[in-house]
Amino acid sequence: MKITVIGTGYVGLVTATCFAELGNSVYGVDVDQAKIEKLKSGESPIYEPGLNDLLKKNLKEGRLVFTINAKEAVPKTDIVYLAVGTPQDEDGSADLQYLVAAVKYFAPAIDHRIVIVNKSTVPVGTGNYVKRIMLEAGVKEELFAVVSNPEFLREGSAVADFMNTERVVIGSDDNSAIELISKLYEPLTHNIIKTDILSSEMIKYASNAFLATKISFINEIANLCDKVGANVREVAYGMGLDSRIGEKFLNAGIGYGGSCFPKDTLALIDIAKKAEYDFKILKEVVNVNKLQRKIYCDKIAFAAGGLKGKKFAVWGLAFKDNTDDMREAPSLDIVPFLIKEGAEVKCYDPIAEENARRLLPEKTLYCSDMYACLDGADALLILTDWKEFKQVNFEEIKKRLKTPLIVDGRNFYKRKEMEETGFRYIGMGI
Ligand SMILES: NC(=O)c1ccc[n+]([C@@H]2O[C@H](COP(=O)([O-])OP(=O)(O)OC[C@H]3O[C@@H](n4cnc5c(N)ncnc54)[C@H](O)[C@@H]3O)[C@@H](O)[C@H]2O)c1
Repeated sequence: MKITVIGTGYVGLVTATCFAELGNSVYGVDVDQAKIEKLKSGESPIYEPGLNDLLKKNLKEGRLVFTINAKEAVPKTDIVYLAVGTPQDEDGSADLQYLVAAVKYFAPAIDHRIVIVNKSTVPVGTGNYVKRIMLEAGVKEELFAVVSNPEFLREGSAVADFMNTERVVIGSDDNSAIELISKLYEPLTHNIIKTDILSSEMIKYASNAFLATKISFINEIANLCDKVGANVREVAYGMGLDSRIGEKFLNAGIGYGGSCFPKDTLALIDIAKKAEYDFKILKEVVNVNKLQRKIYCDKIAFAAGGLKGKKFAVWGLAFKDNTDDMREAPSLDIVPFLIKEGAEVKCYDPIAEENARRLLPEKTLYCSDMYACLDGADALLILTDWKEFKQVNFEEIKKRLKTPLIVDGRNFYKRKEMEETGFRYIGMGI
C-alpha cells in the first residue's frame, strides 16, 4: 500500500519504517528539516534498538522516502498517518496544534480519496474534529475517511513491539476504511479490534491510565512495606501470579515518566472534567507519582545524613532503559532537587547524556565512564534500570565510593547480596 506518515518522532519513524519493512511504499514527513536530512542519509535521529538497520535497508530498497513537504507526499498515497506530537498543554489537556496544522497543510493537496489515520494519542472526539477541519478546508466528504488507530509501542523496544503487536485497535464509522487499515496489519496479527472512533480513542487513554494506576498502586504498597517491614518484591511476585492481576507493571520504584503516562493521565483527567466527571482515582495516581520522587529524595537525605555538601553518583538519567528519551524522566526532578539542596551530582547514562544536558541544571556534572562517576561519592543513586547496571563489579563500586551506600530507585539489586558485599542498601519497599 502507499502510505504517508506525518511526524517522524518515536512513533512516526517506527511506524513508517516498519510499514516499509512489511513491503509498503512509505513517505515519512516531518517539519524538522534537520531530522529529515539525517533520515535521508540513513541515520536515525533517535535511539531505538533495531531501528537504524531497518531504516537503512528500506531507504536503500526504495520503499522509504523522507520529505519535509506533506503536499508532495499525500497526493501520491492512499493512507495518511498522523503521528505528530500531542504534548501536554498548560491546563493538562492535550495540545492539538501540531495535528491541526498538519491536517490544514495537506488538505488542499487532496485530489483523490484518502484515509486519514490518527496514530497520535488524542482526546476522545478528535477524529470528528479532524473531519470538520477537512470539510472546512473545502475537501469533499467522499474524498476522505478518518480512522483512529492508537499506538501501544514502548520506547526502548518500539520496533519489536510494533512487529509483534499484541493487538491493533481500529475505530471508524467508515467500514471500508476499517477494512483497508486492517489489511495493513494482517501480516502482524489477527487480533484486530474494530470499533467506533470514540471508543478507539478512549481505549488508548484508558490503557495508559490503567498502567499508570498499576505503577502508583504498587508504589504505595512499597511505601507501606517500608513501614511494616514487608518486601514489595515478594508482594508483587505473589500478586502477579494471579492471572487477574498479572506480573507486569508491578515494579515499585521512583514512579513513571516518559512522553506518555504523565501527559496521558492528565489529558484523561481533563477529558473527564470537560465531560463534568470527577476522575478521582486518576487524580491520586498522578499525586502518588509526584510524591514517589520526593520519598526517594527523603531516603537519600536520611541515608546520607543530609544533602548539603554531599557528593552523589547518579547512574541512569533516561526515563527508562534502552532509550535516550528524557521527557518527564524522574531524574529531571531528583537531580535538580539534590543540587538545589547543596549536593554535588555527577551523572552517567549510556545514551541519554546529550538530551539530559539540555534539561538538567548547569551545575550537573557528567561522566562517560560509569565507574569513574563513583569516585569519592557519598552514595550511588540508581535512577534508570539500564541492563548494564546489572552486570557490574560491586567490589570496584565499593572501592570507588567514599561510603558504600546505594540508594536504588529501581529496586534493581538484591538487598542480601548487597549487604553481603558490604553495602548499605536502600531500596523502595524492599
Ligand atoms: N513515544 C511513545 O512511546 C508513544 C507511544 C504511543 C503513542 N504515542 C503518541 O504518539 C504521538 C507522537 O509521539 P512521539 O513520541 O513520536 O512524538 P515526537 O515528539 O517524538 O515526534 C513528533 C514529530 O512530529 C513532528 N511534527 C510536528 N508537527 C508537524 C507537522 N505539522 N508536520 C509534520 N511533522 C510534524 C515533529 O517535528 C516531531 O518530529 C503522540 O501523540 C504520543 O502521545 C507516543
